[in-house]
Amino acid sequence: SGEQVMSGPPGIAPDRVEHAARILRAGGLVAFPTETVYGLGADAENVGAVERIFAVKGRPPTHPLIVHLGGGHQLSEWVAEVPDAARRVADRFWPGPVTLVLRRGRRVPHAVTGGVETVALRVPDHPVALAVLAAFGGGVAAPSANRFGSVSPTTAAHVRDGLGADVDYVLDGGSCAVGVESTIVDLTGAPTILRPGGVPREDLEHALGCSVSVRATSAVRVPGQHPSHYAPRARVVLVEPDQVLGHAEHLAARGRRVGVLVPPEFAADAGSRAAHRIIVVPHSTAQYARRLFGFLRDFDRHECEVIVTSVPAPDGLGLAIADRLRRASGPRT
Ligand code: TXA
Ligand code: MG
Repeated sequence: SGEQVMSGPPGIAPDRVEHAARILRAGGLVAFPTETVYGLGADAENVGAVERIFAVKGRPPTHPLIVHLGGGHQLSEWVAEVPDAARRVADRFWPGPVTLVLRRGRRVPHAVTGGVETVALRVPDHPVALAVLAAFGGGVAAPSANRFGSVSPTTAAHVRDGLGADVDYVLDGGSCAVGVESTIVDLTGAPTILRPGGVPREDLEHALGCSVSVRATSAVRVPGQHPSHYAPRARVVLVEPDQVLGHAEHLAARGRRVGVLVPPEFAADAGSRAAHRIIVVPHSTAQYARRLFGFLRDFDRHECEVIVTSVPAPDGLGLAIADRLRRASGPRT
């Protein structure tokens, strides 16, 4: 557009951002980077575009979408009311990896929420996402940019591998820094985490000055009751940390192609063990979260049939990592 140079954060091509915003305005689908995982975005107020997200993902309409906003000041436009707790969490953590579930405002179409009377909202902490949201101006409904049930994408290449030509445009913003999805906290009543994620429960409790419960269905998994999610092709087997190497060796001896995700405290023993592929978990849970989905994809690339690992301690980001591993280990449908 003429000699006018559009301004934007350094390193972000303004023409790409403008192109993405144009596609959103036209009802198209744009995959974009966030700090957690890549999102598959559409204009939240365009019902046809929102329905296309569900079709492309192969996702049941009963799994509602998160509406992404360009700033916390827009929150009141999308909800029936902003409780004090929501204002506190938004002020403290946005832009950032926490999603608020609040009572739905009239602006939110039923297609986004699956007909429930609440809506999930967040402001992502990624310069590309924020630039697109600013250029577009409205809310962007976006699930993770993967087919339903598979491993969430943390690079633009993962998005292209998974969704291919079904997306109108993929914005490349490099690897996602957090690597697991946002923490979803329901603030319509007593604060409840519906999905552990990038903001630890302890940090929410500190900001809110009260205890925050974790909904049992995502914290406790009873074998046989939870269909798999976030799942690689390989079967995921969870055992106690001190059993990981031994169990992997046992399966390898029976001729299975085994991948092992070794707890850091057993790294020293890993080299002497038999397995098709061995990855040692990073000591830092932030590093582990960042790389978790990449590790699962790596085992698939090496055609492992089974991945043996254990869950980390459920504090800090460990809670989100444990949740994803448990879901990945669920029975396949
Ligand atoms: O980090 C993230 O949250 C990423 C990035 C792209 O922002 N998004 C993401 O979206 O993980 P998705 O669709 O894969 O997961 C959204 C979750 C779903 O499990 C959905 O059921 C839940 O949010 N959700 C959405 N609206 C809800 C609502 N009103 N009440 C309860 N849960 C809701
Ligand atoms: Mg998802």
